[in-house]
Amino acid sequence: MNYKTYLKLVIISVWLSVSLLSCNLKKNESAKNDSAIDSSKKLEWFQEAKFGLFIHWGLYSVPAGEWNGRKNYGEWIQYSANIPGEEYEKLAKQFNPVRFIAKEWVSMAKQAGMKYIVITAKHHEGFCMFDSKLTNYNIVDATPYGKDPMKALAEECRKQGLKLCFYYSVKDWHHPQFPVKYTYHTKQYPEGFHGFPNRDADYKKYFAYLEGQVKELLTNYGDIGIIWWDWSGPAFDPDELQNREMALALVDSIHKWQPKCLINNRMGGIGADYGTPEQEIPGGSQSTAFEVCMTLNGSWGYNKTDTTFKSADEVISNLVDIASKGGNYLLNVGPTSEGVMPEKAQAILKKVGNWLSVNGEAIYGTTSGGPSVRWNNSISGITAKPNTLYLHLFRWPGDNMLYLNDFVNEFNNAYLLADKEKKPLKVDVHSQGLMIYLPEQPIDSIDNIIVIKYKGPYKQFRI
Ligand code: GLC
Repeated sequence: MNYKTYLKLVIISVWLSVSLLSCNLKKNESAKNDSAIDSSKKLEWFQEAKFGLFIHWGLYSVPAGEWNGRKNYGEWIQYSANIPGEEYEKLAKQFNPVRFIAKEWVSMAKQAGMKYIVITAKHHEGFCMFDSKLTNYNIVDATPYGKDPMKALAEECRKQGLKLCFYYSVKDWHHPQFPVKYTYHTKQYPEGFHGFPNRDADYKKYFAYLEGQVKELLTNYGDIGIIWWDWSGPAFDPDELQNREMALALVDSIHKWQPKCLINNRMGGIGADYGTPEQEIPGGSQSTAFEVCMTLNGSWGYNKTDTTFKSADEVISNLVDIASKGGNYLLNVGPTSEGVMPEKAQAILKKVGNWLSVNGEAIYGTTSGGPSVRWNNSISGITAKPNTLYLHLFRWPGDNMLYLNDFVNEFNNAYLLADKEKKPLKVDVHSQGLMIYLPEQPIDSIDNIIVIKYKGPYKQFRI
C-alpha cells in the first residue's frame, strides 16, 4: 500500500472508530417498530462467541493487489488505481473460484475457535458475491463460476454450528444511482469516485436496490447473525433527512425479516446493536457491546505480496485484550480468487485454535474483569464469569509470585487453567488482595491463565 493510501485508510479508520463506536451507539436511534427484539437479548450469542472470521472476497481478489506493476493495493484497488467501470467489470470474467470448498473454510474457522463468519456479500466495488435477482453484476450471472458461494457457506455454517453474517457496503462504485457525492472526496478525487459517475444519480433509487438486496440476503440464506454495514456517509447528509428516514424504515424491515439479526453501527448508527472499532483496540472496557475488526496481515482483500502476518501469539494477545474489555474480535483473512485461504493464515489460525481448545473457557462467554480489579504489571487482562476471574499472564513473574490487588471477595480456590488436575495454588488471603504462589515454570508458552474462584456475588473494592 502506498503512503497516501495508507494515510487515507488511517484517517478513515480513526474516523470510524472514534465517531462510530463512541457517539453513534450513544445516540443510537431505534427504529419505529416496537416489536423489535431487545438488543441485549439479540446480543447473547454474540457476546458468548467472542471470536469471528471476517472474509473479504470479491473481484479485487483477482488482481490480488497488483495493477500496472504496483503491488500494494487491496479491496480498494478500483478506487486507488483509478480503474474505470468498464475495465473493472472485466475482472468478473476471470473470477473463477474452482478451489472454493465451503466445508474447508468453515472448518478452518471452527478449528481456529471462531464462532461466526462475516463475509462480504458486496464491497464498495458493487460486485455481488451472491445470487441477486436485482443485478447481473453478481457471481452467478457474471462469472465463469456461475454458482452462489453464499448458499454453500450458509449450508456449511449450519452443519458445523457457526453463524453466517453478511457484510454489505452502502457505498457502491458500480451502481449508477449511487451518487458520487457520497463517496470519499480526496485530493485524488475532489468530487468523489465512481466507476460509472452519473450526475443524475438518485440515492432514493439506489436505496430501493440496497433494500431489495438486503431482503434477498435475509430471506434466501436461512438465519443470518449480523447485517454488517460498511460506510455510513449518506445517512449523515444534513440536506437529505429522508436518507435517515429510509434507513430507519429499513431497520424496521430487517427486524421483520429476521428479528434476531444484529445490526452493526455503520449505517449512521441507526438501529445499531453494537460498535465496530477498526484495526485498534479500545483503551479500556466499554459500556456498550463492540467488536474490533482487524486484518491478519496488512490487507482486507487478498494481496499476494503482503506477508505482514501477525503471529499466533499476537492474535491471542489481541483476543485476550479485547475480551478483557468486554468485546469481540473479528479477524480478517482475504482468500484468493480461486477460493483458497492463504496457507500462512491457515497455519496461524490453527495455532490460535489449539490454544483456545485448552484455554477457551477464559474467553467464550466471559465479561470484562477490567473495571473490577486494578492492573498488576504481570496481568495483561482479566476476564470474568460468575464467581470466577481469569487472570491472563503473558509474562511469568520472575519471583513466581503474583499479587492481585483490590480483591475483597471470599476466596475459594485458585489454579492454572491449563493444568488438567486443577491443582490448587498456594494463596495467602489478605484483607485487600491475594498473594498467589506460582509454580517455577509456566505451563503454557503464550498466556498462562490463573483461575480465581470466589464465593457470593462479586464485591467491588472501593478506595
Ligand atoms: C475499511 C476499509 C474497507 C473494509 C473495512 C472493514 O472501512 O475501507 O475496505 O472493508 O474497513 O472494516
